[in-house]
Amino acid sequence: MIIIGIESSCDETAVAVVKDKKEVLSSVVASQIDVHTEFGGVVPEVASRIHVENISYCIEKALKDANITMEDVDAVAVTQGPGLIGCLHVGVQAAKTLAFAYHKPLVPVHHLAGHIYANELVVDMKYPVLALVVSGGNTELVYMKDETSFEILGETQDDAIGEAFDKVARVLGLGYPGGPKIDKLAKEGKPVYELAKPKTQGRYDFSFSGLKSSVLQFTKRMERQGKTFDMADLACSFQECALDEIFSRVRAVLDDHKDIRHFVVGGGVSANSRLREKVEELRNEYPEVEFTVPPMYCCTDNASMIGVAGTIAYLSGRRGNASLTADSSLEI
Ligand code: KG4
Repeated sequence: MIIIGIESSCDETAVAVVKDKKEVLSSVVASQIDVHTEFGGVVPEVASRIHVENISYCIEKALKDANITMEDVDAVAVTQGPGLIGCLHVGVQAAKTLAFAYHKPLVPVHHLAGHIYANELVVDMKYPVLALVVSGGNTELVYMKDETSFEILGETQDDAIGEAFDKVARVLGLGYPGGPKIDKLAKEGKPVYELAKPKTQGRYDFSFSGLKSSVLQFTKRMERQGKTFDMADLACSFQECALDEIFSRVRAVLDDHKDIRHFVVGGGVSANSRLREKVEELRNEYPEVEFTVPPMYCCTDNASMIGVAGTIAYLSGRRGNASLTADSSLEI
């Protein structure tokens, strides 16, 4: 079974060809990071226009790299949401055009499901699964009883964790995207500064906006008092607080749900080196659970994961028709 996957929910135009759910025949990712770096973050209108410019080339290149034509494709999968609405529309319209021009089934896919199923590219997921999705737009803990059921146990009440990394990096003048820069700087520091601990109501929910403001207030206070501070120590203090917020919730879920067999991570923030260390700590604490953090190429936005998700959705019978439209706040 050959699926072409299309992803355009944020600032990457991506097209991939995936065979039999696991084998990536080609994967093209046109990143817009250089353009958005100039603005210090993703500008939605600019992002959608660049998707329009890139999408046809990415489709052509993905087919060429896979050494196939549209005749060989069994279905067209596309990220329907969530994401930036103008960006999503570009991918959805392209997928509809391909599907109807070549008489292929159209399969709408949820972006978060894509991040979770990316793990299938490196491991066979064992259900029930607990998935942690940490990206620039999402922070969620998802329980999957089986391959096609998704229950959101916890989610952020305000900013996504990647957004908090990016905003704190901006306060520290590190540039965009901030996550990798904070990760690198934090390695040279110690978590010596006390920042506001996040407060949330739900046992499994997250909050990052208070922590982000606390970093801003700290820098302003230092400036007012004419004091200097160590940037690396501040980056490290922020990163430890943000990850403590994540891992205290992960432990709570693992303690409460003894049936979980596999813990997987998805989304751009899973590239974080300290997060990866903390998953290793969990491995020792919960020896009965399997832990997977996929390699970088599966973590950040890509279309291979949409190809995998599309294969699973296609086999479960999901189809889109001519009235399919992008949905910026699509429920999983
Ligand atoms: O999944 P992704 O590529 O795009 C979506 O948001 O869907 O994630 C991008 C996010 C950005 O916020 C970026 O700063 C963050 O992932 N990120 C990191 C690291 N690498 C990327 N955050 C922390 N540490 C990293 N090493």
